[in-house]
Amino acid sequence: MRIQSTQSSPTVLISRQRIEERVAELAQEINRDYADTELLVCIGVLKGSVFFMVDLLKQVEVPVAVDFFQTSSYVGTSARGEVRIRKDLDLFIRDRDVLLVEDIVDTGYTLRTILDLLRFRGAKSVKLCALLDKIEAREVDVPIDYSGFQIGNVFVVGYGLDFDERYRNLPFIGALADDTAPGPESGNRQS
Ligand code: IMP
Ligand code: MG
Repeated sequence: MRIQSTQSSPTVLISRQRIEERVAELAQEINRDYADTELLVCIGVLKGSVFFMVDLLKQVEVPVAVDFFQTSSYVGTSARGEVRIRKDLDLFIRDRDVLLVEDIVDTGYTLRTILDLLRFRGAKSVKLCALLDKIEAREVDVPIDYSGFQIGNVFVVGYGLDFDERYRNLPFIGALADDTAPGPESGNRQS
């Protein structure tokens, strides 16, 4: 796909086909584990998780309800790890089985905050499904129940993931050239 940009095009890290195969496998695992569940509340973190969540849930055969959080976090020295909820859930989750669906776990602060909040609200069970696990970048522990791919500490775009709101619609996961990728991180980050 050609990108209308002065920036260089991302190189393919995980192809469309590999994503499709892995998403199908994850859906199978979820179908097996939740076979007896009456209603699974699937919660995505906007906006990055949307492409993954849609493809995944089309293959989930358990009855689902769908909802979203939107968060932002400040990555810098003073407020490191402080995550704000910019859009809360519409649904109540007390006594519900909840599956959190996320595009990528990086430092882990976003997911740690959301997982704690879901448990505090009395969910019956909470599991995490993440397409990408940037394990070397982890600063707080976040157990991933369904993990798509482990990747190195590189900035990736595509299949929902953005750099400055661009590239989300690429059908593959790509890496940006070093001179295009965001530098030492500082500032406000949205999912
Ligand atoms: P956290 O550091 O685990 O809290 O990740 C917060 C959010 O940063 C993720 O949900 C993503 O939206 C975003 N993010 C982290 N790493 C990347 C990346 O390599 N590319 C694009 N977005 C990223
Ligand atoms: Mg995200």
